[in-house]
Amino acid sequence: MKKIVILTGAGISAESGLGTFRAEGGLWAEHRIEDVATPEGFARDPRLVVDFYNARRAQAAEAAPNAAHLALAKLEEAFDGEVVLVTQNVDDLHEKAGMKRVMHMHGALNGALCGACDHRWPAPMVMAPGDTCPGCEAPAARPDIVWFGEMPYDMEEIYDHLAQADLFAGIGTSGNVYPAAGFVAEARRSGARTLEFNLEPSAVGSQFDNIRIGPATQTVPAWVAEILGS
Ligand code: APR
Repeated sequence: MKKIVILTGAGISAESGLGTFRAEGGLWAEHRIEDVATPEGFARDPRLVVDFYNARRAQAAEAAPNAAHLALAKLEEAFDGEVVLVTQNVDDLHEKAGMKRVMHMHGALNGALCGACDHRWPAPMVMAPGDTCPGCEAPAARPDIVWFGEMPYDMEEIYDHLAQADLFAGIGTSGNVYPAAGFVAEARRSGARTLEFNLEPSAVGSQFDNIRIGPATQTVPAWVAEILGS
């Protein structure tokens, strides 16, 4: 086996204390997606949106990577083939765990983007509506987060990786949001074996060859030990 492609979702960061979206009392129970995760919501009330991400950035800054994040970093370092990690998460816990290649398809809390010129720069801990872009000076700074209705990042490269995958693992994602939820089907099309890690089967769980039920901090380190031991 030469190439492992991994997709992670909010569930891998749950045991680090960061909320998931669709659980009871999750982020989408407290906020309406259309208010805080769409371009229209940002245009309507930039202060509400910027503060929503300021709060998540502050929480993520306090969070520590857990055993699942650390196991994936070990896999990347020790596996004798290629490991490609795609995450839907906007926290930096994979990086904090020492992962080198992290593709943030939904953007990152630590990133800022200019709505006028597309310039990107490291986000300050606290952003405010109307912050100016260091590139073009326009008062058009926004969190570098991919909102609903916007194109996720790195899609072409991600599909190339899926086409070459020998093994695809989906970890801690509910399989509700496309295009990420369609990655397992892409991987199967290219002949990859597919493995899901979750507390319960996701909405696309039936498309995986196997599902390992349990908290990621237990199931992922056990899987990595198996891979590295084999
Ligand atoms: N271990 C493993 N899986 C877990 C754990 C855990 N400790 N805790 C929760 N999960 C699983 C849940 O069972 C669920 O299937 O993680 C998943 C979290 O699902 P969501 O909250 O829907 O998060 P995610 O799939 O990442 O959402 C995808 O939706 O709102 C958008 O852009 C946002 O990136 C996000 C995307």
